[in-house]
Amino acid sequence: MEFLDKYVLPQSAHHMILLKYLMALALLIFIPYISLLIGSLTFSLIFKNKSAKNNNAAHYKFSKFLIDLTTFNKVSALGLGLAPLLSISFGVAQLLHLSDVPAAGYILLSSIFYIAAIIFIYTFKYSFHLRDILGAVTENENIKEEIKEESSFYLSSANKLLRKSGFFGLALLLVSVYLFVGALNLTTRPELWDSGNYFINLIFSLQTVVGFLQIILFAFGFTAAFIIYRSYSSEAIKSDEKYFDFIKNFGLKTGLIISIILPLFIILSILVKSSQALSYNLFAYTLLALFVVMFISVLFYLMIRDAQLRYASSLVYLFVLAVFFVVMQEYSSLDTATKKQFAFLAANYDEYKSALEEEYGLKKVVINGADIYNGKCIACHQFDKKLVGPPYNETLPKYEGKREELVKFILNPVKINPDYPAMPNQGLKPAEAEAVVDYLLSTYKK
Ligand code: HEC
Repeated sequence: MEFLDKYVLPQSAHHMILLKYLMALALLIFIPYISLLIGSLTFSLIFKNKSAKNNNAAHYKFSKFLIDLTTFNKVSALGLGLAPLLSISFGVAQLLHLSDVPAAGYILLSSIFYIAAIIFIYTFKYSFHLRDILGAVTENENIKEEIKEESSFYLSSANKLLRKSGFFGLALLLVSVYLFVGALNLTTRPELWDSGNYFINLIFSLQTVVGFLQIILFAFGFTAAFIIYRSYSSEAIKSDEKYFDFIKNFGLKTGLIISIILPLFIILSILVKSSQALSYNLFAYTLLALFVVMFISVLFYLMIRDAQLRYASSLVYLFVLAVFFVVMQEYSSLDTATKKQFAFLAANYDEYKSALEEEYGLKKVVINGADIYNGKCIACHQFDKKLVGPPYNETLPKYEGKREELVKFILNPVKINPDYPAMPNQGLKPAEAEAVVDYLLSTYKK
């Protein structure tokens, strides 16, 4: 995954802060979308299986309603799923630049699983509809026999597709999310950065398991709230009283149970966090998330008690708020855990910047006469002692007021004193010679 590093440019600290905000924003889009996708697909599969066993029409209808709930168009799968995933991957690549931790690569891998999952999920959706259409054709008296035969052939392949594609879609989606959670955790655990066994640490990590389960629970809860909201606002569903009752029941009960279990996982996710990721902000966001989720469970309870759906839309907003706090939780642990790396990258940027400035001649190179003396002259000259060359205190007074002559001598030494050998040319540039002369003339008197 080193190729990712090639797309990374050193960034200033300001840019990196902006980058972290953008990652939080991407998470705010990705988590709700992926939650609805997981929740609706899982419930859809459960009720499709049930309807196959008990031939319950409501179950069948619900299953189809569920899969249509999140797969409204393909652009959403790219815009709300893939795009945030890729931007998070590039953000992580930037943040972990120069550290060999392949977290960004794992997120990229997760997005490949995601794309495969989306293909299966849409196949599931289309074969669902196809099967109903073909089923209607085969049962229609007025349709020609050959077309019926053709339909029944495609009906059985649609059935086969339906059986497998939904399951594969869900399995791939879960792998994608697991990898994603693991990679993000790797980013917030600096103690693992030198371990080398990144993949093992990512897969077999309590933190990944807890984070993953937290997302799954959240997915079920959020989907339940969304189901309630959709059935509450749809006249078509309300008009079929039995079906409406069934959906309502399922949504409310699932929502209540999940919103009671979820706080446990929110607390657990803090307990398994690396100590290097803890901060006051993290605890504050955790408390806020807990508070919102408890409020959600109260609303679910009130709606069950009063047998109405008055709080349906508030529920959806509250879930979005809960996502916000959970994402901010993740953001602050990322922020805390990468502090050192952040400082390192910022310093690296300064170096990079001054190298660039030098390359384009934007930087004035300050020549230090003392440095040149210490580097090039000190081996043969001291101010008050004779070494290979004469002491400066003896030779410099004659140059008093004749700076240019001394510069000329140093740039091009000539034989002067028979007691000494000739001074070898030191290969200085004119500006360097001037600097060292200024240094010598101002120093020798002291
Ligand atoms: C390898 C030894 C060597 C190094 C290095 C060297 N010098 Fe000299 N320098 C000499 C010798 C030998 C003389 C005497 C030359 C003579 O009198 O002909 C001399 C003479 C001088 C004098 C006196 C000139 C005069 O008019 O009498 C100055 C001033 C001087 N060096 C400056 C420098 C400076 C500045 C540097 C560093 C950039 C430097 N030297 C590096 C060996 C050295």
